[in-house]
Amino acid sequence: MKVLVTGGAGYIGSHTVLSLLENNYDVVVYDNLCNSSVESLRRVEKLTGKSVKFIQGDICSKDDLTKVFNQFNIDAVIHFAALKAVGESAEIPLSYYQNNVHGTVCLLEVMQQQKVHNFIFSSSATVYGEESDVPYVETMKLGTPSSPYGASKVMVERVLADTANANKEFRGVSLRYFNPIGAHESGAIGEDPKGIPNNLLPYVAQVAVGKRDKLSIFGDDYPTQDGSCERDYLHVMDLAQGHVAALNWLNRNDEFRGVEAFNLGTGNGISVFAIVKAFEKAINKTIPFDVSPRRAGDLPAFWANASKANKELNWQATRSLEQMMADTWHWQSNNPNGYLV
Ligand SMILES: NC(=O)c1ccc[n+]([C@@H]2O[C@H](COP(=O)([O-])OP(=O)(O)OC[C@H]3O[C@@H](n4cnc5c(N)ncnc54)[C@H](O)[C@@H]3O)[C@@H](O)[C@H]2O)c1
Repeated sequence: MKVLVTGGAGYIGSHTVLSLLENNYDVVVYDNLCNSSVESLRRVEKLTGKSVKFIQGDICSKDDLTKVFNQFNIDAVIHFAALKAVGESAEIPLSYYQNNVHGTVCLLEVMQQQKVHNFIFSSSATVYGEESDVPYVETMKLGTPSSPYGASKVMVERVLADTANANKEFRGVSLRYFNPIGAHESGAIGEDPKGIPNNLLPYVAQVAVGKRDKLSIFGDDYPTQDGSCERDYLHVMDLAQGHVAALNWLNRNDEFRGVEAFNLGTGNGISVFAIVKAFEKAINKTIPFDVSPRRAGDLPAFWANASKANKELNWQATRSLEQMMADTWHWQSNNPNGYLV
């Protein structure tokens, strides 16, 4: 089975490409490299001993996408390509809607023309919005996210529902990720954000390696156990395997038509202070930090009810917090400058 992976050179994409190859799927990656390096794929090839076809291109170009579908016999698409920085999305919302929403519509149009109907989408826990109670469960209505980034994910989920209503062949899966962290256990691939990291773990790791002075923790007065925000952190390799599980689920369920959402998380909330402590323990060093005011739009705490994915996809996040920390450090200490050599 041949899978087109958009955004496959990025953080979650590269780990998923590795899992797909290990499970004998053929992979074509399509990425414009706006937030990644093709070196991630070269390393995946080394780790697996298998080759990855790479095409540099933008999901907003229907002509380029059509060429890819004409060149390869694509059976399914896993769609990671998106801009993902929550703060930046408030500054340049139109770029986010153009890239994440318009880009996805272009991709779906080309898929429809090419009669490819299997589609897996990178959604996010942010689609539950500010109003939902925790833990989040798939039966809840889509909420109102606080950022244009989050809104772009809600819009695409709506686009998928309407596509499935109109196209009776469509077989879509929305995977709602919680907070992926960590790296492949080899330390050869990992998260390599361009510029200042937006997420906690890459920031902590860059402080540990001496690239940044100290960590800022945004808010210690939330109504949580220790006052810092709580999130459902899961290992990126567990998340990668969630995509293989979703593809296997589509393959098992021949009759399935429509679009189905699954939460991918551990089901546990972990605080920012607890993450910093766990990281310090893993590297045997203290991480300097200060406490800054709360960031606009940050919710106090959320985590997944992941029982639907456990039951239907036969998927579970199995890697421990200790492993997430050790693998992050393995990647960061082996590659202090990411993929730049
Ligand atoms: N990392 C997280 O915490 C998280 C959480 C929930 C959902 N997601 C979603 O998962 C997906 C992957 O996230 P990631 O963390 O791996 O991010 P990433 O930035 O590492 O990967 C995204 C990839 O898409 C590519 N890309 C972006 N716009 C493109 C375009 N127009 N055409 C072609 N390629 C394009 C980038 O170059 C990059 O390689 C995104 O859709 C993101 O919104 C991520």
